[in-house]
Amino acid sequence: MRTKIVAGNWKMNLNREESIELVNAISAELKHLELGNNRVMVFPPSINIEAAQNSKSRDARVEVGAQNMHQANGGAFTGEISASMLIGANVKTVILGHSERREYFNETDSLLKEKVDQALENNLEVVFCFGEKLEERNAKSHFDVVERQLKKALFHLTEAQWANIILAYEPVWAIGTGMTATPEQAQEMHAFIRNTIGSAFNDKLAGAVSILYGGSVKPNNAEEIFGKPDVDGGLIGGASLNASDFSAIIKAM
Ligand code: PGA
Repeated sequence: MRTKIVAGNWKMNLNREESIELVNAISAELKHLELGNNRVMVFPPSINIEAAQNSKSRDARVEVGAQNMHQANGGAFTGEISASMLIGANVKTVILGHSERREYFNETDSLLKEKVDQALENNLEVVFCFGEKLEERNAKSHFDVVERQLKKALFHLTEAQWANIILAYEPVWAIGTGMTATPEQAQEMHAFIRNTIGSAFNDKLAGAVSILYGGSVKPNNAEEIFGKPDVDGGLIGGASLNASDFSAIIKAM
């Protein structure tokens, strides 16, 4: 069985105290919840990772990851953070390829390939984000776009490396817009993704990879989206900043 995951991407929100408060509030909400093999992750801004991680009231099941890292392992890159630094801060998981990074920081498929390689070399697990823009969906090129994004950044990996990849399909038009993909649109794309991976590698690998949906997931739509057979949870932006909304989404997993 694939692992189900609900992950909160805090983006550039919350200061140190607020980060600690939120991780504690989520932990309190989860207190009596049986998670089994399901995973819960939060991704604060890097400067607040350790504060969230070390909060005494954090439920150990609330994993704390990073939103980004540089492709080099060190050197003269002012303002950047490396994979080995994340490992040093007890981070196990890093988000790569978020559409905001692609859009505002010019992260290309080939750059993301380098980042993925660097993360995996350092034994980080990667939540790899990808998804089409509205004009691409309207032009009916969304399947091609997604296939290209996957191929260019991930299809050189070995089967063993795939064990450390979590996918997050996030149609750009649904991020922060309140416009969610319908559960059917999500399922259609997730099945396509799984088939594409199955053809490039094999069905066993494709069946084992968790594919999260992201884009305006809220307490009122999570259950229906997560109910689809190829949707293994979600990457949550806005609603992850509120402990009761985020835990409602976790309960829908
Ligand atoms: P959203 O963001 O839930 O606010 O749409 C999702 C994301 O960017 O991962």
